[in-house]
Amino acid sequence: MGERINENAFSEQSGEYKLARSVMNPFIKRIVCFVTESVQSAFDVELAQCEIEKLIEVPPDYKMGDYALPCFILAKQVKRSPQMIAEKLGVGFEADEYIKNVVTTGPYLNFFVNRGMFIRHVLHCIDSEKDGFGTSDEGEGKCVVVDYSSPNIAKHLAVHHMRSALIGRSIYNLYVALGYKCCGINHLGDWGTQFGKLIVAYKKWGGEETPSDIETLYKLYVRFHKEAEDDPSLEDESREWFKKLENGDDESSELWRLFKDISMKEFDKIYDMLGITFDYYTGESFYNGMLDDTVERLKESGLLELSDNAQVVNLDKYNMPPCLIRKSDDASLYATRDICAAEYRKREFDFDKMVYVVGSEQKLHFKQFKKVLELMGYEWQDECYHVDFGLVKFKDEKMSTRKGKVVLLEDLLNESISRAREIIKEKNPDLDGRDEIADAVGIGAIIFSDLKNKRIKDVNFDWDEILNFDGETGPYVQYTHARLCSIIRKYGKNPDIGADPELLSEDEEFLLVKKLEQYPVAIKRAADVFEPSILVGHLLEICSSLNSYYNQCRIISDDSSLTDSRIVLIDCVRQVIKNGLLMIGMRPPDRM
Ligand code: ARG
Repeated sequence: MGERINENAFSEQSGEYKLARSVMNPFIKRIVCFVTESVQSAFDVELAQCEIEKLIEVPPDYKMGDYALPCFILAKQVKRSPQMIAEKLGVGFEADEYIKNVVTTGPYLNFFVNRGMFIRHVLHCIDSEKDGFGTSDEGEGKCVVVDYSSPNIAKHLAVHHMRSALIGRSIYNLYVALGYKCCGINHLGDWGTQFGKLIVAYKKWGGEETPSDIETLYKLYVRFHKEAEDDPSLEDESREWFKKLENGDDESSELWRLFKDISMKEFDKIYDMLGITFDYYTGESFYNGMLDDTVERLKESGLLELSDNAQVVNLDKYNMPPCLIRKSDDASLYATRDICAAEYRKREFDFDKMVYVVGSEQKLHFKQFKKVLELMGYEWQDECYHVDFGLVKFKDEKMSTRKGKVVLLEDLLNESISRAREIIKEKNPDLDGRDEIADAVGIGAIIFSDLKNKRIKDVNFDWDEILNFDGETGPYVQYTHARLCSIIRKYGKNPDIGADPELLSEDEEFLLVKKLEQYPVAIKRAADVFEPSILVGHLLEICSSLNSYYNQCRIISDDSSLTDSRIVLIDCVRQVIKNGLLMIGMRPPDRM
């Protein structure tokens, strides 16, 4: 699964160049037409425009050009050297209102756009699309299922379930932006032998009072394991109880419901703080009534084997341990329920992609799972992706999980909010609505640090780092947004898109607009490889580009026409940062 993701059409093509745009802008369109026609007339080779479009890149340094055509792939089709193709095509170029110059550098053709025209085009797009800038309809009629967070009942929501929730929510939003119908599923771990254990523990040591919090449930669970070391009969008892539960027995079902309600209350509290929602809370228990059918299909496909009285799919041939389907007492397993859930989701949603946002320690599980689906003859197993991610490591001793301590997420989030409040109080003592802003910034800092680096990397959690307003952090991006809002307030009028874009003639202005233009590309690339960090990285680039601009040029000056034009640019940057923050689940404060 991981490997397939990298072979994506949108990965970097040659060296440091990046793909330019999936939806044609008029500048790329002009280049594509020129190249298609010239290749036809110079070499008598007919190429599809969409093929050429895929080759267009953005050079790493703007001085080299605004768009580039590397001629390596053309070389194969035209059967000439890339250098020669570049040279020949370059000679025949004529400037127009979109592209004003082309320079041949070795095997590359580098195009320079008409800057005024480019700025006008990009700012108009942003101004007319507003909150919708960056979206497209390429996914129309298609569906993506995202399975995220998916914590286990009767335990605290763990840090990795939060990471999964944050990454999953972003991936969900990215695909919604691309026009897909998305189904966000919380595949709760609410079934399995552990519930038998919990029932036994509760009946034996639960006391008179009905438990009301996860801590109590968790303690019961831990006590079960301790006592079972000396008294193995407890294990048998728990298996019987789970069996009863699977068969729909009243007493066990009622207890199970109680445990689930207690857990959901705590989970929802944290999801609310993070602004995370789901379309479905169909956990493992949901599939109980469908498991027999799935097992039957496995049997019919001749895949089931008996091993120590358990039914398994042997995966020796694929160098994997067997996938357990039914235990000797007929109880189902995690994998059984995942296979069943996948079949159900395909039937129900007819997805084009299904994404499992689950930590990398479950790599083997998902490899086995996909192999079994393949052996069952399902072609759509190719469209199932294990989107894995690294661990969260805490620098702070107090939060170390090593000594068996659990980091309580609610405490973590509250701590972040109160630290943010302190910092804001110091920076801006008279700020209105400080609590709400501290909330947005404290939560935002955590979201951002989680999504900033490639998801497979571990997150090294460090308070000073994530809340540093000058670092590459959530607060920094939020602060940039707030500052743009404040410039516009100071300007005192509504930005007028009619202002003359030709006045934006500084290099910094053009570079900033180029970054804005690439925002939809960042969304597309991030979605394609399920990597929110690509979008986050692009937001950071926009902020840094903005800051160089801000340091070089005065936005509000005595020159009122220039001020009007600059304010339009500032307003467009504000809009794009806002869109980006919302996409990853952060709130964009208008003051800070
Ligand atoms: N509940 C599982 C765990 O905490 C994660 C479930 C992920 N989703 C899935 N369809 N397997 O380990």
